[in-house]
Amino acid sequence: MDQRFLDDLFARVDIVSLVSKYVHLTKKGGNHFGLCPFHNEKTPSFSVNGEKQIFHCFGCGVGGGAVQFLMKMENLEFRDAVAQLAESVGMEVPVDGNPGESRRRDRLYDLMREAARHFHANLKRPEAAAAVEYIRRRALQPQTVTRFGLGYSMDSWDDLSRAMKAKGYTEEELLFAGLTVRGKNNSAYDRFRGRLMFPIIDVRGRVIAFGGRVLDDSLPKYLNSPDTPIFNKTQNLFGLNYAKKSKHGKLILAEGYMDVISLHQAGFDCAVASLGTSLTAEQARIISRYTDRCVISYDADEAGQKAAQRAIQIFGGAGVTVQVLRISGAKDPDEFIKKNGPEAFDELLSRSEGQTEYRLRVIRQKYDLSQDDQRVAFLREASAMLAGIPNAVERDVFAGRAAEAAGVSREAVLIEVEKRRRADQKKERAERHRADVSPVNRAQPRERELRYRDAASAMAEEGVLSLLLQRPEHIEEAKKLLSPEDFSAPPLAEIYRRVLEGQTETSQLSVSLAPEVFSLCTKLLMRELPVDELRALRDCAGRIRTERLKTGAEGTEEDPLLAFRKIKANK
Ligand code: GTP
Ligand code: MN
Repeated sequence: MDQRFLDDLFARVDIVSLVSKYVHLTKKGGNHFGLCPFHNEKTPSFSVNGEKQIFHCFGCGVGGGAVQFLMKMENLEFRDAVAQLAESVGMEVPVDGNPGESRRRDRLYDLMREAARHFHANLKRPEAAAAVEYIRRRALQPQTVTRFGLGYSMDSWDDLSRAMKAKGYTEEELLFAGLTVRGKNNSAYDRFRGRLMFPIIDVRGRVIAFGGRVLDDSLPKYLNSPDTPIFNKTQNLFGLNYAKKSKHGKLILAEGYMDVISLHQAGFDCAVASLGTSLTAEQARIISRYTDRCVISYDADEAGQKAAQRAIQIFGGAGVTVQVLRISGAKDPDEFIKKNGPEAFDELLSRSEGQTEYRLRVIRQKYDLSQDDQRVAFLREASAMLAGIPNAVERDVFAGRAAEAAGVSREAVLIEVEKRRRADQKKERAERHRADVSPVNRAQPRERELRYRDAASAMAEEGVLSLLLQRPEHIEEAKKLLSPEDFSAPPLAEIYRRVLEGQTETSQLSVSLAPEVFSLCTKLLMRELPVDELRALRDCAGRIRTERLKTGAEGTEEDPLLAFRKIKANK
């Protein structure tokens, strides 16, 4: 979007009055405080600063500007939140912010669609016989192949590139779209070769990425498009373009592309899957826009069950009620349907368990309840789980179930549960206290993906940024001391890069940074300044450089679910 328009808009919007519509605020010093609308709390740690036009919660760590507040509060996309704010102050959103940029994106969308067509048409070529045979073996009907636009990437280094170049797309565009990869000698070659191709289509019906599966047992089994200007794998779901129109009134979340396709083919057109990683909070929020009920139907193996437990937690944060499907005699929904047919799957769906039921059963299966000591151990673990349920009626009901299973009275279980609850609350208070007093913990961002690996360096990096964001006049001095590469934490390095580019206004940063990263900025902006600013800057820079010498180069973290699968596959 046009930055000049956004600057105008931000100049007219007042975050204090915006937030006041939702939260009761009290002024204390330069800030307004209230109870955070994004997490449960009894003492206000949610603060709004009218001068900087930001909010930040010291309890849950979330922060942002007016747009981010409205996005979270009303569950809106960036554009829609901007439009709503613009309307509230009587401004018109310009139709096209940056024509050059949007033309480039349009061409990427076109290129992806052409690529999907090319892959699909490949199925008719004689060299694709193995792919056609594979499709037949997986029992995919022709209508299904067409509906999902499945295709084949030829076993060639340049089949796709040549075809796309003939249509006028450049080498650079192909790279940008993630369709080619640059090799050692700088020449580009096709990313997907000899694979069954699954186009990933967004809710507006545009091809934004691909997943490619090998036709045999070689590894990696799937290759996915990298993130591109039009694709972010954490913010899309496979199959949602169809599932959003489903009449089922709920969504089914599966693990794999094949599961989704198989489910749709069997009439369950409400199935979706996350894209090669475990479910993200963003995906859960997207799902919550379409339904408040989701059935998790992951693989029956250990990795699948672990992922289901995690998904339950993530959905909890998005306000979606979850049920868990219990598949037996097959490894995943695809195989189950092939073996037993759609009716049997429907039966499973109707018997899918609520999350508490599911978790209680998982615990129960670990123990032999005919043994006294095992019964005690079962009750201990079950009570610990039940203690985490906020609703008293639900605790009561499932305490009854656990009691029945172990052959004791419900009262006895409830007493145990209440004891646990008190202990948990005490522990939580102690932990919060520790987190507040330990500087290293206090420095850690709440978003797991942003966690600092080198906390000592990150604290000094935060010190530098907190200073520069509030006192841009020190940027020149900082430039002499540090380059972005000296930073150990990628999000902080990114903020530093923007600051060096001269972006110190929250109105600019709130647009150029990802929401989680901007959220970090708000924390830094709320900090008090050191007494001797230049000395603090030099101290921090010194510490960063020492840490850098100690730890050397950095790596990136891998998705735990994927890592687990790789280990399994290699065994
Ligand atoms: P089939 O074996 O053909 O039935 O595949 P599936 O769709 O059932 O996939 P599976 O349950 O093995 O894995 C679930 C999902 O994880 C897949 O759909 C992919 O999105 C992703 N995935 C699996 N293997 C890999 C891999 O090697 N690399 C990457 N990046 N993603 C993978
Ligand atoms: Mn499968």
